[in-house]
Amino acid sequence: MRVYSPAKINLHLRVGPKRSDGFHPLVSWMVAVGLFDTLDFTLDTAGRVDLSCPDPAVPVDDRNLIVQAARIMQVEATRILGGETSLSPLAPGARGVRIELSKVIPMGGGLGGGSSNAATTLKALNELWLLNLPQDRLSALAAGLGSDVPFFLNGPSSICTGRGEVITRVDSPAAHWVVLILPEISMPTPAVYRQFDQMPSCPDFDQAVDWAQWCNLSAEVLLRMLQNDLEPSAFALCPNLARLRESAQSLVARPVRMSGSGSTLFTLFDTKDEAIAAADLIQSKQSVRTIAVTIANVEK
Ligand code: C5P
Repeated sequence: MRVYSPAKINLHLRVGPKRSDGFHPLVSWMVAVGLFDTLDFTLDTAGRVDLSCPDPAVPVDDRNLIVQAARIMQVEATRILGGETSLSPLAPGARGVRIELSKVIPMGGGLGGGSSNAATTLKALNELWLLNLPQDRLSALAAGLGSDVPFFLNGPSSICTGRGEVITRVDSPAAHWVVLILPEISMPTPAVYRQFDQMPSCPDFDQAVDWAQWCNLSAEVLLRMLQNDLEPSAFALCPNLARLRESAQSLVARPVRMSGSGSTLFTLFDTKDEAIAAADLIQSKQSVRTIAVTIANVEK
């Protein structure tokens, strides 16, 4: 079974003061974007979980959320089918999988690649292992793996609240071409949040937004509404990222935002031609990788 696992960006990300559990309350408009990892799943009837990836920078042990997702699905299989004693290849103890990962989404880039891979694994194993878990159970398992994982079970355009795991779908933005600027910088999310805790707080982080109206705005108008409360923290930790943002903004004459805790920067366009031209311009002038992709309607 081959499945494509999309990246996300946070079009809008408001962050409140740290909660007693150490997480921060969020209000974020997240959208899937047309940049994909590929996962190939093969049933292993000996019950093993084996992940491989040609990129040596990708951990293939328990540190990888794909392996963690497969393990919790095995626990879930035993929980719901524990009494099953059949010799069938899909008896609880026989549910194993070989997963080949082809990694395209940069790691540490605020694009949610690891979370997307985990959600893809939950969905794929629910099918491959004939578990038939309901959506709300998959969502609970997803939230246990990470704050961004539930979004990828739902997507492709959602308002994420709580610590990110409470998902409400909204329309996809009319401005649906995005230029991703992908600097070779890996931003550690916990460090960006720790820096956020040192900065003045954002008291209005949960102010009401008319999302239906925002969905209809042109790229230039929408870009002026969007915010990311983690930008000052990420830029304090990495001044080069702040400089890249400034020069990209002046090159394309429109706001450039950061996704999640960085390092990916993005800007929006209404049309493909404008997006491709801007991606080419930034790449040639700034020596940074860029790509123009679509938002939300990301069937591959
Ligand atoms: O949930 P996830 O594992 O993706 O979170 C990684 C880290 O990001 C957390 O350990 C925490 O430091 C920070 N985080 C946070 N508030 C959130 C989400 C993440 O402080 N809502």
